[in-house]
Amino acid sequence: MADLATPMSIRVAATLGLVEHAGNAGATAERLAALTGTSAPALGRLLDHLVTVGVFEHDARSGRFRPTSLGTQMDEVRLLLDINAAGGRAELAFVELLGTVTTGAPAYPRRYGREFWADLDAEPELRRTFDAQMNWRFETQASQIAERFDWGRFPEILDVGGGNGMVLEAILRAHPGVRGRVLDLPPSAEAAADRFAAAGLGDRAGAVAGSFFEPLPAGADAYLLCDILHDWDDEHARAILAECRRAAAPDGTVLVIEAVRGQGVDTTVDLFMLMCFGGRERTIAELTDLAADLGLTPRGSAPVSDGRTVLELAVTA
Ligand SMILES: C[S@@+](CC[C@H](N)C(=O)[O-])C[C@H]1O[C@@H](n2cnc3c(N)ncnc32)[C@H](O)[C@@H]1O
Repeated sequence: MADLATPMSIRVAATLGLVEHAGNAGATAERLAALTGTSAPALGRLLDHLVTVGVFEHDARSGRFRPTSLGTQMDEVRLLLDINAAGGRAELAFVELLGTVTTGAPAYPRRYGREFWADLDAEPELRRTFDAQMNWRFETQASQIAERFDWGRFPEILDVGGGNGMVLEAILRAHPGVRGRVLDLPPSAEAAADRFAAAGLGDRAGAVAGSFFEPLPAGADAYLLCDILHDWDDEHARAILAECRRAAAPDGTVLVIEAVRGQGVDTTVDLFMLMCFGGRERTIAELTDLAADLGLTPRGSAPVSDGRTVLELAVTA
């Protein structure tokens, strides 16, 4: 459980694309080193370990390394493992976990010198791979979210921190009477606008670049926070809810969609949220508590996809 050799070997293999380079026919260490610009003797030793753990098999006669079915599966989640992509890079900050446990502060800024979102702003490739990872995780859930909740009750939705618009696109496709906008940081807002135009939804969908710590576009019927609050500590999560409350129509609603602690969320995700952002997975009661004193009254919660729950908070005086 405690060695780092295997997880790092797998991540380096994914980063170098060894499974893809080897292909079904396999390749020698020398060939793979030439293709990846690495040291053949060192790569050979990495491959030996990947054989030990069942990711590759080695044909002694040809000297070729071939991916096993485990190796092929690994390649399918390469986006999560690649240490140059946003998710894999964030995972490496776990080496600073002792600092997080000692101080309670996130490890990511300690390791990389700036917070996660600032890092994404500074590095377009990190932003691109993060948005791709967000879309990958919702490949089946986006349509579930769109179909398992009555979005038709809300003529105008603001998807706050809506990324590159995947969830909102699914909602608008499933509910032709609904209009919506994404608000997110500039590169994602731009990507959302492109997505809506490409989907032919330009007349019902738009995107606004901005921060959810600043005043939000006012008057929407629903302010959606999908996987937003868990990225933040209580103080910041409350500030986001307060901005939604301030901007909402008098009879508006704030909708929180998250994986809920106690309903299938595992401790790995919770620890990642702490380590990366200082955030946390919360129970429904903890989410509801965040909204206390903000003029938001819980109206109920229900499962909305395989793994996520929607919590409705009604605007009250
Ligand atoms: C975990 S992602 C969720 C994206 C989307 N809601 C979804 O469920 O696919 C969190 C989003 O919050 C956005 N975000 C982070 N800080 C923000 C800020 N200050 N203002 C607006 N959006 C922000 C990120 O850019 C990212 O798209």
